[in-house]
Amino acid sequence: MENKIVYLNGDYIPLNEAKVSVLDRGFLFGDGVYEVIPAYSGHLFHFQDHLQRLENSLDGIRLANPHSREQWLEILIPLLNPQFDQYIYLQVTRGVATKRDHAFPENIEATVFAMCSNIIPFAGLNHGVKAISLDDSRWQFCNIKAITLLGNILHRQEAIDNGCAEALLVKDGYVVEGAASNVFAVIDDVLITPAKSNSILPGITRDVILDIARKNDIPCREDNISFAAIQTASEIWVTSSTREIIPVVELDSKLVGDGKPGSVWHIVNHLFQAYKKSLL
Ligand SMILES: Cc1ncc(COP(=O)(O)O)c(C=O)c1O
Repeated sequence: MENKIVYLNGDYIPLNEAKVSVLDRGFLFGDGVYEVIPAYSGHLFHFQDHLQRLENSLDGIRLANPHSREQWLEILIPLLNPQFDQYIYLQVTRGVATKRDHAFPENIEATVFAMCSNIIPFAGLNHGVKAISLDDSRWQFCNIKAITLLGNILHRQEAIDNGCAEALLVKDGYVVEGAASNVFAVIDDVLITPAKSNSILPGITRDVILDIARKNDIPCREDNISFAAIQTASEIWVTSSTREIIPVVELDSKLVGDGKPGSVWHIVNHLFQAYKKSLL
């Protein structure tokens, strides 16, 4: 196991010495939230947006934020290595109770963990990936970045078992997002992504892409995408912090467009990469 230095409850320690109690509510119940924040050459990408989403997730599970934004920054900076493109994984659980009980225990301290890993460029970026559609069987709080990820895990694994990189999740006849990504489609030359709701995680990459599209006069809108409509899309992408903008070139064994990353993807991906560089 890679033995990097990680942060746990106030200490910087080697990963293999980082231990939490079996009574931690994260372990027993998945009672916690997390964030994934990219850091390019040591610069945290859209840090304030990620911290705002962390605050929203914590509010969503009624857990007080253990740190101010300044404290979070102080905690995370020592984990970064500016020689690499990396991402921070941080997690806050409700802490260690004295007994196992669903209801919130009183007077316990949150468990705070953070670690940093190098971003391995995603192999599917330039030629695209295959995806499968699946009925979304997750819960009703998908806007909370909860560590309780069994639904997402089972969907992603079903995609992998079918030779695909991602599952597109369909809820009430509409494609909402991927198992670990947001979804975009180009339909009739307009870039469309579902509006924010409790059916999707409000992706930071998603927001950046919409902003880039609007600033560059690329026709786009936030709207529902029916499963029937996505089958007519000339392009489909899935987006996330660590994989960025991945073209889906095959959905349910049928080619998307001509089966190659499309022209809108080329433009937006180029603008996205330039935007990242402009922040360094
Ligand atoms: C379910 C889900 N939706 C969307 C995203 C994309 O969010 P972001 O762009 O902030 O990484 C993720 C990221 O992991 C995710 O797990």
